[in-house]
Amino acid sequence: MKILLTGAAGFIGAHVAREARARGHDVVGLDAYLAAAHGPGAVVDPSVVRRDLRTDPLDDVLDGIDVVCHQAAMVGNGVDAQDLPAYAENNDAGTARLLAAMARTGVRDLVLASSMVVYGDGRYTCPEHGDVPPAVRRDDDLEAGRYDPRCPRCGGDITLREIGEDTPLLPRTSYAASKVAQEHYAAAWCTLESARTIALRYHNAYGPGMPADTPYAGVSAIFRSAIARGEAPRVFEDGGQVRDFVHVHDLARANVLAIEQVAQHPVGLTPYNVASGHRFTIGQMAATLSRAAGGAEPVVTGDYRRFDVRHVVASPAAAREGLGFVAEVTPEDGLARLAHDPLRTR
Ligand code: UD1
Repeated sequence: MKILLTGAAGFIGAHVAREARARGHDVVGLDAYLAAAHGPGAVVDPSVVRRDLRTDPLDDVLDGIDVVCHQAAMVGNGVDAQDLPAYAENNDAGTARLLAAMARTGVRDLVLASSMVVYGDGRYTCPEHGDVPPAVRRDDDLEAGRYDPRCPRCGGDITLREIGEDTPLLPRTSYAASKVAQEHYAAAWCTLESARTIALRYHNAYGPGMPADTPYAGVSAIFRSAIARGEAPRVFEDGGQVRDFVHVHDLARANVLAIEQVAQHPVGLTPYNVASGHRFTIGQMAATLSRAAGGAEPVVTGDYRRFDVRHVVASPAAAREGLGFVAEVTPEDGLARLAHDPLRTR
C-alpha cells in the first residue's frame, strides 16, 4: 500500500514509518518540524518532506495514496490557556485542511492518532447512582490529600470502571479538546465523502526516541529525564493514579494493522482504544524506572495539577476483535527498558 504519513519525524510517527516499511508498504512521510517538538534548527530527516498542514500545498503529495495515517499534532496537555490557539491551529485546522485535500484527491481511508484524553475523567460506579462521570475534583479535597473523585450527584465514594469506546467524550484540556475535534472533523468528512476513518485512542505512550523533558512532555519522559540527571522522580498526588502505559512498538503495530484494514471497515469513524491492558500506577511506574536505572528512589510530593485526571483505564477488547491487535510489551518490561532507551533531545 502507498501511505501518506503525517508527523513522520515525530516520536510515534518515526516508529510507524519503520514498521510500515518493514511490512512492505511504501511510505511518504511529511512533517512540519514544529519548533515546540524539534527545536528551532531541527535536523531534517531526508526521507521526510517538510510540509505544514496549516499552510502548505497537500494535493501533490496525496497523488496515488491509498491510506493517510495522520500522526502530526501538537501534543502534551497544554501549559495554560495561551496554548489554546496553537492547539486549534495545528490540530483542528491542520486536520480540516488535510481532509479537504483528501476529498479533492479522492483518498477515502484515514487512520487518525487520537488519545484516551478524549474520555477526560472516564466513568465510575456510584453504589447509589450507578454509572456516572466523576465530579471535577475540588481544591479543598486535593489540598486535604483526597485525590479520588466523588459522585457528581451525592458526593460519595465511587469505583473506577474500565471504559469502552462508546463512553461519552468529555475533554478536560486544550489538547484533549483538539483530539475530540479531530475525531469530529474526520467523522464529518466520512459522511460527506462516504469515507472511512479508524481513530486510535492511544494510552500513555513511551519507548525509545521519546522526546526528553519539555513543558509538553508526558510523565514517563519527565521521570526518565530526571533519573538521567541524577534526580529522583517527583510523583504527584499519592502516586496511586492509574494509567495504562503502552509501548511505542505496539502503537506502531496498531497503526499498521489499522492501515491494512481500514478499507474493510464500514463508512464512518470507528474508534479503538490502544492500550497494553495492564493497569499501572504512577508510583509503580516511577519505582520501576528508578530500579531499572539504579537511580534515586521516587519522592511522593502530594503536589497536584488541576487539569490532571485521576485514573484512566480503557478496555482493549474492541481493538483485539476489530483489528486483531494485542499489545506485546508489558509495562513491567517496557518501562524497565525505558531506563536505558535513548531519548530524542531535539
Ligand atoms: C498523557 C499525555 C497526553 C496523551 C495521553 C495518552 C502529556 C503531557 N500527556 O496524558 O498527551 O494523550 O497520555 O497517551 O504528554 N505526574 C507526576 N509527576 C510529574 C508529571 C506528572 O506524578 O512530574 C503525574 C500526573 O499528576 C498524572 C500522571 O503523572 O497523574 C500522568 O501525567 P501526564 O503524562 O502528564 O498526562 P496524562 O493525563 O496521563
